[in-house]
Amino acid sequence: MKLSAVYDCSIVELKKSQNRAGNITIVESNSSIPFAIKRVYYLYDVPAEEERGGHGHKELYQLIVAPSGSFTITLNDGKTKRSFDLNNPNLGLLVIPGIWRELNNFSSGAVCLVLASMEYSEEDYIRSYDDFVKYKL
Ligand code: TYD
Repeated sequence: MKLSAVYDCSIVELKKSQNRAGNITIVESNSSIPFAIKRVYYLYDVPAEEERGGHGHKELYQLIVAPSGSFTITLNDGKTKRSFDLNNPNLGLLVIPGIWRELNNFSSGAVCLVLASMEYSEEDYIRSYDDFVKYKL
């Protein structure tokens, strides 16, 4: 998606079932988020000084959640950057296609859970920032 902007990405408050025995957060395809979930993956044991991401996607939608710990995601549409500190299991960041993302500042024990709209496809990645800027023109 060439015309997407960082302002079209947003924090989504997820459905929560809460009682004195603890919490459940629920994410459902097409209601909590505007896509059907095809794939789930998670990053963990990321050293504090490491950076992940550093790519864009052409068609992929993602909801990114910090079910444990915290990390920072910086989104960039080629013109504007927006950073989000994720540290609440009940909030997710909806990342639409055509956005460059970088993840860093991982806390000890952080888990980065990603719910994705498509199966893994290397063709959907834009891995060079120069190519990304050209793609957005
Ligand atoms: P990548 O998406 O580049 O990681 P990150 O954005 O977290 O830095 O993926 C890292 C490697 O893992 C890459 O070689 C491809 C592989 N991979 C899969 O095989 N399937 C997947 O669903 C994902 C997300 C990655």
